[in-house]
Amino acid sequence: MTAEYQVHGAVAVITLNNPPVNGMGLATRTAAVQGLQRAAADDAVKAIVITGAGKAFSGGADIKEFNTPQALAEPSLHTFIATAEGSSKPVVAAIHTVCMGGGLELSLGCHYRVALLGAQIALPEVKLGLLPGAGGTQRLPRVLGLEPALNMIVSGNPVSSEKLPALFDEIFAADAELLPSAIAFAAKIADVRPLPKVRDRQVNYPNHEAFLQFSRNTVKAMAGPFPAPLECVETVAASVTMKFEDGMQFERERFLHLIQTTESKALRHAFFAERLASKVPDVPADTPVRPIKSAAIIGAGTMGGGIAMNFLNAGIPVKLLEQRQEALDKGIATIRKHYESSLKKGKLTQEKLDQRMSLLTSTLSYDDIGQADIVVEAVFEELGVKEAVFRQLDAVMKPGAILATNTSTLDVDKIAAFTARPRDVIGTHFFSPANVMKLLEIVRGKETAKDVLATALALSKKLKKTGVVSGVCDGFIGNRMIEQYSRQAGFLLEEGALPEQVDQAAEKFGFAMGPFRMGDLAGNDIGWAIRKRRYVEKPEISYSKTADLLCEMGRYGQKTGAGWYDYKAGDRKAYPNDAVNAMIVQHSADLGIARRRISDTEIVERLVYALVNEGALILEEGIAMRASDIDMVYLTGYGFPLYRGGPMFYADTAGLPNVLAAIHRYAQGHQGEAWKAAPLLQKLAAEGRTFNG
Ligand code: 3HC
Ligand code: NAI
Repeated sequence: MTAEYQVHGAVAVITLNNPPVNGMGLATRTAAVQGLQRAAADDAVKAIVITGAGKAFSGGADIKEFNTPQALAEPSLHTFIATAEGSSKPVVAAIHTVCMGGGLELSLGCHYRVALLGAQIALPEVKLGLLPGAGGTQRLPRVLGLEPALNMIVSGNPVSSEKLPALFDEIFAADAELLPSAIAFAAKIADVRPLPKVRDRQVNYPNHEAFLQFSRNTVKAMAGPFPAPLECVETVAASVTMKFEDGMQFERERFLHLIQTTESKALRHAFFAERLASKVPDVPADTPVRPIKSAAIIGAGTMGGGIAMNFLNAGIPVKLLEQRQEALDKGIATIRKHYESSLKKGKLTQEKLDQRMSLLTSTLSYDDIGQADIVVEAVFEELGVKEAVFRQLDAVMKPGAILATNTSTLDVDKIAAFTARPRDVIGTHFFSPANVMKLLEIVRGKETAKDVLATALALSKKLKKTGVVSGVCDGFIGNRMIEQYSRQAGFLLEEGALPEQVDQAAEKFGFAMGPFRMGDLAGNDIGWAIRKRRYVEKPEISYSKTADLLCEMGRYGQKTGAGWYDYKAGDRKAYPNDAVNAMIVQHSADLGIARRRISDTEIVERLVYALVNEGALILEEGIAMRASDIDMVYLTGYGFPLYRGGPMFYADTAGLPNVLAAIHRYAQGHQGEAWKAAPLLQKLAAEGRTFNG
């Protein structure tokens, strides 16, 4: 069943019923239009209510249908909306929970809209690289006015129903029964004529051209090469400058253009990739999860504090354990400082701050944490320290507690083996700053129990993180790949580039930060420590020594006020430094390299294809379950541009044979031995396939 039809007295009710969110696919549209026709033909019916079953009014057009013949097959979404608008009997949209995209556009085609308080209303198409394509850009400004409509369409963000009084004819209390209230409303307006139609209204905005020009400039500056936001402005502009039908036609053309763009395909890929990441083939969706009602965190340093905040924000009490009282005091003070800064910025209320801090307690004794449902270890990155901690945890934690480690490089299986309960051990690799970054790499050890994995995935949602499962290897998915990217960044300096050029090329490509600015933010000493370990463990791998020389100059990054760049107090801007650049040039000379001009294209290819090639190895080894998981890691943890879909998707769009050819070319160049094309990449390229295909 995709839309149900019932008659209550003189009111016909059409209930969209296409779980989980009543996406308006072909079958749903067909059934709903049939419902409208049935109501039209029934003389006993005087008014019609359209609503949605389950957890949404409607999440909009069915995204899975895009770029398939079903998307445009009749009755199209336009036809559905036009049928409702053209009905000779009044049609009332009865909205609850979620009303988005095509769902909101449908309601704008209805003669009346009623809603429950708190329903989330949005035109989120821009987040999929699109614009509202079923009349939203023309009808919403006619209802809300130009400026509020433009804000909703360009941001895509949801707004609560009670904040949109102009949109609704009636708003019912959040706990009211929607359907009886909507039926009563429909009965009340059944005989009112003429039927009110949004299309008949005008958008009035004095001096609209000046406002639209200001919007174009602002949006262009913010969106960069991502086309959808500016297209949103142009189509909304048409609601003022064109007649309704012409505006609709213009919207249609721009929508059909955007839906074919790589950026939109990338964003739709990311949408589904995010949801797919939480599914593990051998862990069924109905695997019971362990209740997480309390947490303990070992180590109140940079990561421990941030991780604690995630739990506190989700309302889960946290007990923080440290070796020394001073470390505890410092950790707690830092947490409070973060919350106070949010308070100052108006992002948090004093009440919420107090509530969160009241959930935080601390201890120096393992005896106090035994009853926690999960414990996350975030102590120094040394196996010996981890061993001591996990042996203690094994001794004190109640049976069934989950023992998680935040290690970024160490072997989770070895850590699990320090306990007599390796099934309960898992890696939860948060990213810094842990209270901000969306990514949570969930490291599945070879013994990790399925319900522990299912619990960690469910927990990631509760903590508002994107959980991605990784197998055990050095660096897991994200850091293992970034190492190859960083190596290339170093080799580029040896060959002729300067940090500023590399960063600018990467940032123009869309990375939030280029490799050197990122190094300065994370602390260059961290990479230095890892490389020192590698020089001993894996002497066969070559690295540029430039970064070591930088550290030897004492330039660890922002924390020392100087790294690849200079920094000024109270200013995060990076200022190039002559001594660093001279060191780089001198290092090339010492290596006997004649520096050359390197193009931005080469810089981007070498950085991104280094990620892709390592990603292919990771996929082949089964460390990542699927290419889209790797993409999620990069989109949510490493500032990879969202509208490029992640490194693996980007490689697919660049064409794997082209990626392979470039890798072969770079293998002939400076430090060419770093480029060994992954067998999976070679295979897929030869077969004309893609990573995400
Ligand atoms: N089409 C198809 N499937 C959809 C969908 C849609 N519009 N919206 C959600 N889904 C699917 C998800 O893929 C997921 O599937 P899965 O269970 O197989 O993984 C399932 O519904 C549940 O989704 P969430 O996990 O996101 O559930 P939540 O309850 O957290 O959120 C939601 C629900 C707020 C509706 C959220 O899913 C969402 O934001 N969806 C996207 C809405 C959107 O972008 N709509 C615009 C569509 S484009 C459009 O309408 C074009 C028109 O202008 C012409
Ligand atoms: P940190 O040095 O800031 O904090 C570590 C804390 O652990 C210190 O406060 C220390 O007093 C405490 N500690 C040490 N031994 C202890 C013990 N035996 N018992 C109780 N407390 C103890 O280190 P950071 O950066 O927070 O890293 C912690 C872990 O998180 C490491 O495994 C690291 O690899 C990992 N990680 C770090 C990231 C980062 O960007 N800093 C990112 C992701 C993971």
